[in-house]
Order: sequence, then structure tokens, then C-alpha cells
Amino acid sequence: AADHALRRAARLIREVPDFPEPGVLFRDISPLLADGTGLGAVVSALGRGVEFDVVAGVEARGFLVGAAVAQAFGTGVIGLRKPGKLPVVADRVDYRLEYGRATLELPADTLCAGQRVLIVDDVLATGGTLGAACRLVRQAGADVAAAAVVLELTALEGRDKIMGETVRALLQA
Ligand code: PRP
Repeated sequence: AADHALRRAARLIREVPDFPEPGVLFRDISPLLADGTGLGAVVSALGRGVEFDVVAGVEARGFLVGAAVAQAFGTGVIGLRKPGKLPVVADRVDYRLEYGRATLELPADTLCAGQRVLIVDDVLATGGTLGAACRLVRQAGADVAAAAVVLELTALEGRDKIMGETVRALLQA
């Protein structure tokens, strides 16, 4: 039943050619999140069987999914943010993108050493973002329970950047 719900949810992902630049096929999970059954299917599949104390959602679509997972499994949620958004930053990690660089920041007074963290995002592409999220968690003395995404773009081999952690992808393309 769970598999059937996920397959149905997968059909709600919209493919947009040439976004954000020519030659890139963008997968937009917005229609999936807008569907109550689809959102429910991904939320329960992301957290099922993982033992975690708190969720860390990655800006921006990871906030939507992460907060829903946290609520469904009875934990709190932390937003890992792009730079310049947080008033007080506990730590930051710079990482490489396909073109250029990016930064993720951990808000102060959120994550405690020893906590088991379920990291949640919508898409795993090159793996830079999820890898940086894992580093932020480990640098805080916390543990990555799993890094979970709705969709993995397998051709980009992003999973290789997150070696040593449990990576869960509900769907692959
Ligand atoms: C997308 C996606 C992931 C990241 C994956 O975010 O939501 O966070 O890219 O890419 P990677 O595996 O190559 O690092 P985006 O940069 O589009 O930001 P947004 O969610 O704020 O729009």
C-alpha cells in the first residue's frame, strides 16, 4: 500500500525543461506537496523505521517536508538556512556547487550534542547540499540518523558525497 501511494505521488512531480538554465530538466515536487495523499505518503515514508530526536529541513522545500515529518513523528524541526537569513548563527558550512559555492547555516540554540537528526530535503542532485547538512550536524556533536529525500537524481551520483551516512531516497530518476 505504501509503495502504491509513492508511485502515485511520483506521477505528481512536474518536469520542467531548461530550468534554472538551458539543458537542465528541473523536477518540481510542488504539485506532489499540494496533494494531501501525496504529502502524507512521502512524510510517513521519510520517517518510517528511523530513530531520531529532531528533524533538520534544508531551505527551502526541505522546510515544508521536514516540518511535516517532524509533526507526524512527534519531534521538533530545525531549518538549515542559506546565508544572511538568521539573526544568530551557531555554525556554517561552505560547499561547492556544480557552478560556484554555497553556504548552509545552523540557527543558534536549536541542535544539542548527542541528538539523532533526520535530515530532510526534497531533491538529492550533486549531493553538495545534503553533504553540507550532514557536516553541520556532525560539527554540532550530533548524529545523522539518516539523510532522507523525496527524489534522488541518480545520474549525478550525489550519494557518493554523503558516504558514511544512511541515505534514504523515496523515488529515483
Ligand atoms: C535544490 C534542492 C536541494 C538542492 C540539491 O535547492 O531543493 O536543496 O538543490 O542540489 P545538490 O544535491 O546539487 O546540492 P535549491 O538550490 O534549488 O534551493 P531552494 O530549495 O531554496 O529553491
